[in-house]
Amino acid sequence: MDLSAPDQLFTIRDWVRWGASRFREAGLFFGHGTDDAFDEALALVLHALHLEHEEGLAYLDARLTRAERERVLDYFTRRVEERVPAAYITHEAWFAGLSFYVNENVLVPRSPIAELIEQEFEPWLEDEGEGELRVLDLCTGSGCIAIAIAHYLPHARVDASDISPSALEVAQVNRDRYQLEGRVRLFRSDLFDELPEERYDLIVSNPPYVSSEEMASLPEEYGHEPALGLEAGSDGLEVVSRILAEGARWLRPGGIMVVEVGESMENLVRRYPRVPFLWLDFQRGGGGVFLLTADQLQQYQEEFTEE
Ligand SMILES: C[S@@+](CC[C@H](N)C(=O)[O-])C[C@H]1O[C@@H](n2cnc3c(N)ncnc32)[C@H](O)[C@@H]1O
Repeated sequence: MDLSAPDQLFTIRDWVRWGASRFREAGLFFGHGTDDAFDEALALVLHALHLEHEEGLAYLDARLTRAERERVLDYFTRRVEERVPAAYITHEAWFAGLSFYVNENVLVPRSPIAELIEQEFEPWLEDEGEGELRVLDLCTGSGCIAIAIAHYLPHARVDASDISPSALEVAQVNRDRYQLEGRVRLFRSDLFDELPEERYDLIVSNPPYVSSEEMASLPEEYGHEPALGLEAGSDGLEVVSRILAEGARWLRPGGIMVVEVGESMENLVRRYPRVPFLWLDFQRGGGGVFLLTADQLQQYQEEFTEE
């Protein structure tokens, strides 16, 4: 595709429109932080101009300088030719209304769990009033879930873990950005293996859950994300099944577990047909997130630990 820009492009509006048209023409995949060509082009143009979203919208008819045009064109070219999701070019992704630093060592945050966090997990979490809420975010990646929980639930203390040291470096950048060192602890751990002995009111996780078959058919954009954050064996349940087997002993009585399994939902139900997974609904779309109580995890323990 010819990505030399025509001379008739002057304003922010012109560049966003032209970029969006090229993105559609190239058949790009959207879904890593934005879900259409216009949002993606807007994010790249505004990043090139060092403008915040609201500022950009207020100055849509402002003209770009030559240097700015070159920068925009460079970003558009990377987006189209290398299929790099815009968030990895701008190093910014939004989750639960908060901005997070991202690079290619972490997945671009997009879990529907954001909606539950904004609603403070109501009505599922018992209101402890002023009491402390203990939360564990397994497979934290950029730290988006852990940090958003600490932000929306001021009485929460959150432990967050990931097996990838480079992902944890990103989580630390984000934790520092929100000055949450006192309430969010980060651990390098293979799921529960290296965690300090604790009991939690809430265990939340968006673990890897893509099956090998699905992995092979993902759009090129996913190739920029760490495979460790996506791939989970032939049925996509390699990590989730371990979380289910070990989860009960990490929850306090009355606690809950909330886990995203996406498209692997069907495989999960097939593997544990007796377990009454509660599949949560989301107003902003997305799904494949189940909730189980501490009692249920205990009750079905044998099924989860069966080989
Ligand atoms: C789907 S990403 C989710 C990241 C983040 N929670 C989010 O919602 O954007 C899954 C994360 O799990 C981590 N991971 C994979 N296997 C793991 C394991 N056995 N123990 C802990 N973390 C693991 C990956 O490094 C990756 O950061």
